[in-house]
Formats: sequence, structure tokens, C-alpha cells
Amino acid sequence: MTSAISIQNVSKTYKTGFSALKAINLDIENGEIFALLGPNGAGKTTLISLICGIVTKTSGSIKVAGHDINSDYRAARKLIGLVPQELSLPIFETVWSTVKFSRALFGKPRDDAKLEAILKQLSLFDKKDAKINSLSGGMKRRVLIAKALAHEPSILFLDEPSAGVDVELRKDMWNVMRKLAEDGTTIILTTHYIEEAEMMADRVGVINKGEIILVEDKKVLMEKLGQKQLIVSLEEPLDRLPTKIAKLGFNLMQSGKKLSYQYDSKKEKPDIAKLITGLSAAQIAVADLSTQQSSLEDIFLDLVKK
Ligand SMILES: Nc1ncnc2c1ncn2[C@@H]1O[C@H](COP(=O)(O)OP(=O)(O)O)[C@@H](O)[C@H]1O
Ligand SMILES: [Mg+2]
Repeated sequence: MTSAISIQNVSKTYKTGFSALKAINLDIENGEIFALLGPNGAGKTTLISLICGIVTKTSGSIKVAGHDINSDYRAARKLIGLVPQELSLPIFETVWSTVKFSRALFGKPRDDAKLEAILKQLSLFDKKDAKINSLSGGMKRRVLIAKALAHEPSILFLDEPSAGVDVELRKDMWNVMRKLAEDGTTIILTTHYIEEAEMMADRVGVINKGEIILVEDKKVLMEKLGQKQLIVSLEEPLDRLPTKIAKLGFNLMQSGKKLSYQYDSKKEKPDIAKLITGLSAAQIAVADLSTQQSSLEDIFLDLVKK
């Protein structure tokens, strides 16, 4: 099947000479929720802007449901809805006229029933005649989503949907996104919140300094999260790991002062007594014991540092 989005070898160098994206390859499948996770300045907005035709790429190819965004721009763009990060709304217009206008922009025939359905899906229908400036922040965000959906796109981009949004509103946004995904919309969101990627995504792509450094199924990432380490601090440093100790599953950490034992906390409980007995049989004195868990945060920071 054709991917919702197919990005091949895409680079972007801004006029300043700054290379914001370097040879990006990424496929996004129909119906998935994909989170593009990365720190500020990583290139997330640039990548979305290239796909949506707001910024022109320097090289490479981008297809939206098989339509090339250069040679077949209109067909490609029609399939996409974009929710920008900034609240940019005509404050004196009503919700209804704003959303109606967005639909017309894409040359779609008027369809009040459709707009009604979109507003209802976003719990905005009872506000349809309200002026934008009378709405709460959360409602304004939902109006942005309604605008992006007005021309019935099958792919929705949300650029940092919960940046600067309080916890309650964030949950609200997540529910809206899930509902849209259940109804078959492909969702691509950018975020610098690890928690958001964990909560929302089917797949996560990590981007840093214009490069995609990891694309992984969220479940696989979560399994990595289940990894725990038992750390044994030693009274005396070792210069090499005795074979017997290696056989128990220990690794020697850099300084030689600590041993680590990695295990999957979801599947096993280490037999600490056995490990300690093994150590004392090899005449290795233990100074301290601790466990640590690698979080997505660790994995992320680790990747970003490299
Ligand atoms: N119009 C521009 N001209 C020059 N550099 C830009 C422009 N837009 C963005 N950049 C730079 O490109 C990098 C990526 O920006 P952006 O895509 O907005 O990152 P993110 O959305 O991940 O925070 C940043 O270093 C930013 O300063
Ligand atoms: Mg951005």
C-alpha cells in the first residue's frame, strides 16, 4: 500500500546557509499516530513545513499518498490538514464562519452537515456562533483543529499541540487526537515532551540537529524502558571481569569500581542472593547495591548526546 507520507533523502538549507535538515528518510503509514520527538531547533517545524509546501526543500522527494508535492502539489496539499503551533485566528469572526472559510479555501463545495459533524466531534458545535475572542484557550486550539479539518483531509499534522498548554488542556488535546485517529485520520504530531510521545504515538521518530536518529515502534521503545540495571559498587576496583562473574551476567563498568547486571523488570526478578553469593565466592567485596531504570528520557538524552 502507498504510504501516507513518503520522504526520501530530503534536505533543507536555509538562505542563511544553515542546514536545518540532512538527508531525511521517513515513511508514515496510513492510520498511524506518529510522533516526531526532538528538542527545540531540531528541525521539526521545518520538516512539517516542507511537507505542507510552506517552505521549499533543497533536495530530495516528498510524496503524500503517492502524490509528489512538487509535480502534483494540489492533489498532495488537499489531503493534508495543518494545525500550526501558534494560535493564529481571526478574533472577531465566529467559529462557524472561520471554519467555513477554511473549507472554501481548498475549493471544497459548501457542506454544512460536514462542518457541523467536525464541530461536534471537537465539542465546539454549541459555540458555532461565538466570536473567537470570547473563547477559552482550549477552545481556540480546537478551532484551529476544526479549521485544519474543514476540507476533510486524511492526514493531520499538529505542530507542538501541547506546547505551553496546561495539563488539563493537554489531556483534552490527547483525547481529541485519539478520537480523530479512531476515525481513520493519519496523525503526525511534533513534540519535545517525551511524555506526549509515550502517551500518544504508535511510532516515534527522534530528530536532532536535522537528522532522524531513531524510528521505533512505541511498544519496542517501552520495552527498552522496562530494562533495569542492578549496580554493584565494589570495595576494590577490578582490572578485569572474572569469568565466573561474567557467567552470572555481570558487566564491568568503565572505572572497574562497579558491576552492572541488566534485566527486564517486566519479565524477571533477579535472584540477588545468588548474585551476591557468587560475588563473595569470587572474593569480591560489595560496598553498595542500587538499581536504576532507563527511561525514554535516558534513551533520548543518550541519543541526542551522540
Ligand atoms: N527561515 C529560517 N531561516 C534560517 N534558519 C531557520 C529558519 N527557520 C528555522 N531556522 C533554523 O532551523 C532550525 C530548525 O528550526 P525548526 O524547524 O523551527 O525546529 P523545531 O521545530 O524542531 O524547534 C533552527 O536552528 C532554526 O533556527
Ligand atoms: Mg517547531
